[in-house]
Amino acid sequence: MCGIVGYVGREEAVPVLLQGLYKLEYRGYDSAGVAVLRPEGLKVVKTKGRIKNLEDKVQQVGGMEATCGIGHTRWATHGEPSDVNAHPHISRNGRIAIVHNGIIENYLELREMLTKEGYEMQSQTDTEVVAHLFEHHFKGDMMQALMDTVKDLRGSYALGILSADDPGEIYCTKRDNPLIIGVGEGENLIASDIPAIIQKTKHYIVLEDNQIARITPDQVEVFNAFGQKLEPEVQTVNWDISSAEKGGYEHFMIKEIMEQPKALRDTISPRIEGDLPRLEECGLTDELFHDLRNIHIVACGSALHAGLVGREVIERFARVPVSASVASEFRYRNPIIGKEDLCIVISQSGETADTLAAMREAKKRGARTIAIVNVVSSSAAREADSVLYTWAGPEIAVATTKAYSAQLAALYLVAIKAGLARGTLTEEEGKEYCRKINELPELITEALRTRPQIQYLASLYSNRQSVFFIGRGVDYAAAQEASLKLKEISYIHSEAYAAGELKHGTISLIEDGTLVVAMANDKALYEKTLSNVKSVKARGASVIMVTNEEVEPDPEICDFVVKIPDCDPALSASLSIIPMQLFSYYMGVYRGCDIDKPRNLAKSVTVE
Ligand code: G6P
Repeated sequence: MCGIVGYVGREEAVPVLLQGLYKLEYRGYDSAGVAVLRPEGLKVVKTKGRIKNLEDKVQQVGGMEATCGIGHTRWATHGEPSDVNAHPHISRNGRIAIVHNGIIENYLELREMLTKEGYEMQSQTDTEVVAHLFEHHFKGDMMQALMDTVKDLRGSYALGILSADDPGEIYCTKRDNPLIIGVGEGENLIASDIPAIIQKTKHYIVLEDNQIARITPDQVEVFNAFGQKLEPEVQTVNWDISSAEKGGYEHFMIKEIMEQPKALRDTISPRIEGDLPRLEECGLTDELFHDLRNIHIVACGSALHAGLVGREVIERFARVPVSASVASEFRYRNPIIGKEDLCIVISQSGETADTLAAMREAKKRGARTIAIVNVVSSSAAREADSVLYTWAGPEIAVATTKAYSAQLAALYLVAIKAGLARGTLTEEEGKEYCRKINELPELITEALRTRPQIQYLASLYSNRQSVFFIGRGVDYAAAQEASLKLKEISYIHSEAYAAGELKHGTISLIEDGTLVVAMANDKALYEKTLSNVKSVKARGASVIMVTNEEVEPDPEICDFVVKIPDCDPALSASLSIIPMQLFSYYMGVYRGCDIDKPRNLAKSVTVE
């Protein structure tokens, strides 16, 4: 996720662009840049770091006075955060500047084609390819060049384009990424989100997929993919600007919960080709998974919980022993790990000190390392032998939701890849699982529809002192994340138990009104879990069942059923966790907690 802004009018463009970029910093903040059109041509300033760094650099450089420009705040995908990888990117002849949000999936192919034509790439980004491709197609008509360019692109994008040949104009288009046009008086803007335009206007047009817009100070023209002019609807912002960065949501956490279908799609779609996992670009070759003795997953917090699901799925698909360890324990227990083993570290931030230390320990002992991380060029990403990025976008709420879900998706792909490489999955089975993974974003959208029911349940149970989560197999792994989420956000004491283990002691804590959330999404284990549920119900517990089975509330079993979509049991954590994230969220809301910044917690813990 990145942020785009563009301005064309009668005022100085750069201050408007910077102000807009500050408002979009929540979309990414590892580098930023602006390009303006001066009488002598395009002038670009860009830098690694936050918008403040860009503002300082613009002042130092000077000479940026202009009334037309584009800007960008980046969250790195292709290529580390650096000055050269920051946007805008410039075409070979220096006459086209482009800002981009999204991922160009076929950029390697395009880069090869353009390199053969003599274009030299300055950066490691997918975006620079688009700038050169545009020049390649440009024969004097911007519209035609843009239509021809997007025909060659695969993947998702929102693009803002400035051309030295068409002063006082900005072109833009989009597919699967947001882009709006701010409609002002004597000035118009483009942006990824409303907060970036609100300083100038409350009127905006939402650009639809494949539409192209041309904006000048006095005119906004929108065309369909064939260049036919349209009459777009102009809307008016009618909500409080302070909530704007949250896209109208009250908290980042609920926004990020709702963003999960996209986070999954972005993580999965570039990695599945012909219904098979394509992970070689991430350094995950078949050879890596041959002759393995063990896989060790190490992580902390929710990332560890993703690892617990990963352990279940990798063992199932690849038939290799997998351990999932708390990173801070792993490094001090003289771990049995060597060159016959693979170590997978999982971390949203890629900077968690315990996780990094565990990874270094594994490396020192000769193991090969894979990092599943969300922050590009973070320490874990730099130090691991191979990196599989989760494309969840920046996560602002301290309690992770979308990064956890993206980690699960990445682990499923690793599990299938390992299974295929080791011959424990046939190609047909691998394809079948990839098809099922491709369906997950849709199924998550469906699972998010439990939101009103979950809000109601939270209103009933938010005064409870203690909550137990139980499940078996993948459900147990998901229960552990559900329990942590509830603790983090609502400060309610909670525990997750393997459903069959509760009877060995802890059942003594179950009394009248204790809330038990039972997660049961594996048909093979359903009956077993059900008998554990009955035993807590018989001791007076209030029970919520989270299940894909067609069951109704029953006085002997449960008070409420939260029905989630049916899916393969190996992948069910991706769906069962959704109502549980919503449950923690609403429990926290009803208890008046500080949702996005829970007490005592930090997003990234860089001390041991
Ligand atoms: C902190 C956060 C947790 C997070 C854990 C691991 O403790 O509060 O929510 O799961 O760190 O963070 P990482 O960035 O390594 O995934």
